[in-house]
Amino acid sequence: MPATYFDHNATTPLDPRVREAMEPWLGELHGNPASLHAFGQTARDATEVARERVASLLGATPAELVFMASATEANNAVLLGCAWKAEFKGHLVVSAIEHPSVWEPAMALQDAGMAVSWVEPDGQGRIASEQVLAEVREDTRLVCLMLANNEVGTLQPVEQVGAGCRELGVPVLCDAVQAIGKVPVDSRDLTVDYLSVGAHKFYGPLGAAALWVRRGATFQPLLRGGSQERQRRAGTVNVPAVVGFGKAAELAADELEARGDRMQELRDRFETGLGRISDVVVHARSTQRLPNTSHIALLGADSEALLIRLDLAGFAVSSGSACSSGTVEPSRTLLAMGVSEKEASCSLRISLGPRNTSQEVDAFLDVLDREVTELRRLSSVPGS
Ligand SMILES: Cc1ncc(COP(=O)(O)O)c(C=O)c1O
Repeated sequence: MPATYFDHNATTPLDPRVREAMEPWLGELHGNPASLHAFGQTARDATEVARERVASLLGATPAELVFMASATEANNAVLLGCAWKAEFKGHLVVSAIEHPSVWEPAMALQDAGMAVSWVEPDGQGRIASEQVLAEVREDTRLVCLMLANNEVGTLQPVEQVGAGCRELGVPVLCDAVQAIGKVPVDSRDLTVDYLSVGAHKFYGPLGAAALWVRRGATFQPLLRGGSQERQRRAGTVNVPAVVGFGKAAELAADELEARGDRMQELRDRFETGLGRISDVVVHARSTQRLPNTSHIALLGADSEALLIRLDLAGFAVSSGSACSSGTVEPSRTLLAMGVSEKEASCSLRISLGPRNTSQEVDAFLDVLDREVTELRRLSSVPGS
């Protein structure tokens, strides 16, 4: 049986139309965009077309975009650049449910002496804009709030935080990685200063991402060397990946609504179908969330064991916990939402894509029901 992929928040398959756009750059075409000869100029033209396409998806001006190798790099560049400029003094406001690519550098800056206010979410995984704004102080250097949480999918009030911070004169980093390609995002409406995006979350290639830096916002490069990307990111641009990024952005813009409707239809079918399984909690169900993400706890069924059983049965999903240093830790996001460790250890993330089918969802529900029943039975057997 071919495996069914329900882990689109981790990464997405490459769209064949994106691969087709990239192929010449993996074969007959090559060139360094910084070179003055025709090879270089062709490469440069291709990256500029891609820049326009990504900018158009984000409602940005092409010159505001800095191509990078990953969204992790983009987020690190903002946090570390800001700290560098502030001489590692001052204060940051960071939501407690940020992706590790924001959370970890913020932790490192805290260790290096900066003050950090961590803003906790409510039980649905939503951060209150008032709470973020209340933490802003005279010496606040940066506020970090993601647009959509990668685990539970909750959408965050970035627009309100952006507007409030603009009035207070404090820059905002918005990690928009999970939202782009799933819900409409316009950088101008968000009133933020930095926005990160990664191609592989919406059918583009790995190795291509961008940081949008609002015109007029200060920016210190993380990587120094050549003068690429208007001296904002040294290093030769990954032309094939950037070309693919541009194509993926163009397709996402054209198909955004249809993809969103399709994913939501499948997600709703899945969550309605869960009614047949007992003791299931759907996290963040009563708040605005991504149309493709269903985060559930199957009480009494250990998620690591379940994930392996589902994988063997041909379904790829993600567990609600993170593997760090060889031990399985409960999800930081779930704990911040007030979910108990026990419930967190029984959590799964199902993240759908528009090419999944209702037959796949139905088949998954059958297998999930069977495997959860079996796991619960085994865990109730003494000594098992
Ligand atoms: C919300 C969010 N931000 C940032 C990233 C980092 O992306 P990458 O691992 O491609 O650098 C991810 C990846 O899962 C993410 O979900």
